[in-house]
Amino acid sequence: MSSLSLGPDRDRVLNHAAELVSGIWADFDEARDSHPMTSPGLEKILKEQLPQDPSDPIAALDFAAEALDSSLTQARPRYLAYIGSSGLEIGALGDLLAHSHDPNLALDAGTASEIERQTITWLGEFLGYNNAQGFFTSGGTVSNLTALAAAREQALPDSRSTGMGTHTLALYSSAEAHYSVRRAAEVLGIGGDNVRSIHIDSQRRMDPSALAQAIKADREAGVIPMAVVATAGTTLTGAVDSINEIADVCGDIWLHVDGAYGLPAAGTKTAGPLFTGLDRANSVSIDAHKWLFVPKACSALLVKRPELLAQAFSHNEAYIPHEHGDTNAVDITFEYSRPLRALKLWLAFKVHGAQSFRDALEGNLAQAQLLYHLASDAPDFEVLSSPPQLSTVPLRHIPASLEAASSTQINKHTAQLQLALVADGRVYISPAQINGDTWLRPCFTNFRTTTEDVHVSFDVIREVSNSLGND
Ligand SMILES: Cc1ncc(COP(=O)(O)O)c(C=O)c1O
Repeated sequence: MSSLSLGPDRDRVLNHAAELVSGIWADFDEARDSHPMTSPGLEKILKEQLPQDPSDPIAALDFAAEALDSSLTQARPRYLAYIGSSGLEIGALGDLLAHSHDPNLALDAGTASEIERQTITWLGEFLGYNNAQGFFTSGGTVSNLTALAAAREQALPDSRSTGMGTHTLALYSSAEAHYSVRRAAEVLGIGGDNVRSIHIDSQRRMDPSALAQAIKADREAGVIPMAVVATAGTTLTGAVDSINEIADVCGDIWLHVDGAYGLPAAGTKTAGPLFTGLDRANSVSIDAHKWLFVPKACSALLVKRPELLAQAFSHNEAYIPHEHGDTNAVDITFEYSRPLRALKLWLAFKVHGAQSFRDALEGNLAQAQLLYHLASDAPDFEVLSSPPQLSTVPLRHIPASLEAASSTQINKHTAQLQLALVADGRVYISPAQINGDTWLRPCFTNFRTTTEDVHVSFDVIREVSNSLGND
């Protein structure tokens, strides 16, 4: 037996790992009030040189578990920073199973490829994007890039081979679109400066008439409109662009919907109407590792016509079989080796059912409204003028000592408050710049977060802010 096998120790190690995971899940059930420091023992191990000899796997697993316990874990119920993922239990088990077999989804992996196909179909059904085809990627960044590569090939056929010559292509997205759109333009040779940053309205959604004007101006200047990216849940405030109106403006221009964060809400009663027109999009990105709660990495790109992806990506390499003119997964994806990312979402839908997901999403939507209303009813808090469209609630706390302060002083206080909250450890919230000012930006995307956690977070923000009180 290879010395790389766990050999006769296997079951003992697996049972120990199961005990560790069980303890971790129990610990996640409720928020904790402080964040442990890295222990001196662990610090010592983290400075060790490359081990040459075997060591006890149980002890090594214990160190790994301790290291994770003192790491920042998005799965905790009061981790409200950025757009967290929750490490859904069945999803973590799905990853263990998938990684144990380790199929490669680059080519046809038999039933594993069927699982990926079925999960894409289920996802499309959940979201209201009919007859969806597609695949899983490592994240919204890669999903967006992949869709935009296909859009480039459609706008300027053969540009993948010949380059763009003297042509200039342009991309259109809201001023608050995720920067992965600009990165895609940079990587695809479109040029970051050819991403038109379209004006947003009072609810921070792309203004369709400004979009129409920008497209018209480009066409008059000989620029080729390549794609419009509508954001279905901006990272900054959760604004959902009006997809239907944007689709009207697009005509035959490729419409990509970046729903990496917000798109799961399309499956809910409360927020579903915000996504009207989704079915008209040529391509759609969604990160199941954000608001469908499964562990990273699990993004999906959904399309209606995979052959347009093949136009951008297919290759005829000597070692890749195309005997029956078949399209392999790798002919429509940017990545080559791909793990079975779909399994965790497949298991999640199968075990919990779609309604449990809708309920959890509704719970997060309600938590965002609750926090917004608590803050807007309180004279010492500041919120944006309209309530959250999804689950992001930018806010600021202004202690009595700063009532008459300048915006520079309030920005400084908010930046200090964010650091003080992290040091306090009861709630983890990230900062954001909105209209040039510093805000706190709590975001609810965790199925473990409770209404009680919202109240605690609100009280902790006020308490820590007042305790700074020396600005
Ligand atoms: C709207 C949006 N698009 C794309 C991304 C990038 O996704 P990923 O981090 O999975 O690459 C994010 C990440 O927060 C996002 O919010």
